[in-house]
Amino acid sequence: MAQLWGGRFTKQTDEAVKAFNDSIGFDKRLYREDIEGSIAHAGMLGRQGIISEEEAAAIISGLNRILEDVESGALMITGEYEDIHSFVEANLIDRIGDTGKKLHTGRSRNDQVALDMKLYTRRRAREIRTDLYSLLETILAVMEENTDTYMPGFTHLQKAQPTSLAHHFGAYFEMFKRDAGRLDDCLRRMNYCPLGSGALAGTTYPLDRYMTAKELGFDGPTLNSMDSVSDRDYLIELMSDLSMIMMHLSRFSEELITWNSNEYRFVEMDDAFSTGSSIMPQKKNPDICELVRGKTGRVYGDLFSLMTTMKGLPLAYNKDMQEDKEPAFDAIDTAQACITLFTGMLSTITFRKDVMRLSAVRGFTNATDAADYLVMKGVPFRDAHGIIGRLVLACIDEGKSIEELSLDQLRTFSPAFDEDIYEAVSLRNCVEKRLTLGAPGSEMMKKVIAEEKAWLQSRRQQIAGK
Ligand code: ARG
Repeated sequence: MAQLWGGRFTKQTDEAVKAFNDSIGFDKRLYREDIEGSIAHAGMLGRQGIISEEEAAAIISGLNRILEDVESGALMITGEYEDIHSFVEANLIDRIGDTGKKLHTGRSRNDQVALDMKLYTRRRAREIRTDLYSLLETILAVMEENTDTYMPGFTHLQKAQPTSLAHHFGAYFEMFKRDAGRLDDCLRRMNYCPLGSGALAGTTYPLDRYMTAKELGFDGPTLNSMDSVSDRDYLIELMSDLSMIMMHLSRFSEELITWNSNEYRFVEMDDAFSTGSSIMPQKKNPDICELVRGKTGRVYGDLFSLMTTMKGLPLAYNKDMQEDKEPAFDAIDTAQACITLFTGMLSTITFRKDVMRLSAVRGFTNATDAADYLVMKGVPFRDAHGIIGRLVLACIDEGKSIEELSLDQLRTFSPAFDEDIYEAVSLRNCVEKRLTLGAPGSEMMKKVIAEEKAWLQSRRQQIAGK
């Protein structure tokens, strides 16, 4: 028996229709969740006296054996079944006979698939959150080691003011920290159990929905059976969270690609995380970063695919909703792979601290500090800005940096310059004096790092304690 609904039909389904309609090819990955949900349902049916306790026990043991056999490879999920729900039920009936036919009492595939997807999505979203924490740990390790690795900070991709590698990476720490928080929110909002909603209008059997919700680790049952079978918000929310993660990974990738270029040479990617060219022997390409950047579009596409699928659907279940799975699975698989590969790449990257430092020295990143120096000597800021502008122009002509000019040369631009200008515009000073909260001065950076570290540890503990 490959179909669950032959009764009212007099003809076989057309082959092409079957192929078009079936979802087993992609929903077979829900086997674990389908069985887990069915076990909770059967146990509740038994405890409520809807079926006997013995029948429930026989169903549960049959389901557990199916799970074992699928996991060991003894039982293959084959294409003759319509979907994973049909596969599990048909196998159960094969194994335990007529009692297996009682499993679907008070249940519809509509609440069943809603439950399976929620259980599956919840498991994967939790995994991804843990992967994000590992990425955050990797970023934090780079930050801890590089509070005094000076480099240029950019605006418009032009050297702007000096900063440190720790500070630059700290920006990404904040982004992924917010992303992890978004996953927390999504997980919290989605954690209500649709099982027991039936096809759309509940059921006449005395189901205990609190019992199954609790057993499956939900915060409670959902409160409207029509919404329960039609809600795909949580998938859209998760995919939008994943899109945001991808956007952040993509920005980070873009920067690392630039930093790895022959012109920048700020970083060198490990051989294990780079690829070569079939024709140009000298090439070592940052393919992981490029693929992450490229796959960002794919995850956005997955999000928009489901948003568009859902936009015109009347209540309650419509078969259109079967189209939630492939994009959701693809977004989850893609984002998770990108996070873990990116983390591996980042933990093996080499930073060329000398090149970064030189780039900051060579790029007039201390021009603001030079103007601030004149302000300190009593020159109004707007005048100081003009003086340093002219000074920079002259330096460009001579191919020199500000601190390479003699005091006499500097004084031709303003008599306010003194010996202490050299210390004032030194790279170290320019970074270390920036001590506002969130700024790169290492004294402040270290405080922020300690705070981020404590946050990450407490989040890890909270997750482990759940
Ligand atoms: N394969 C279906 C899906 O993914 C399962 C639900 C089927 N329900 C139905 N009324 N045909 O949506």
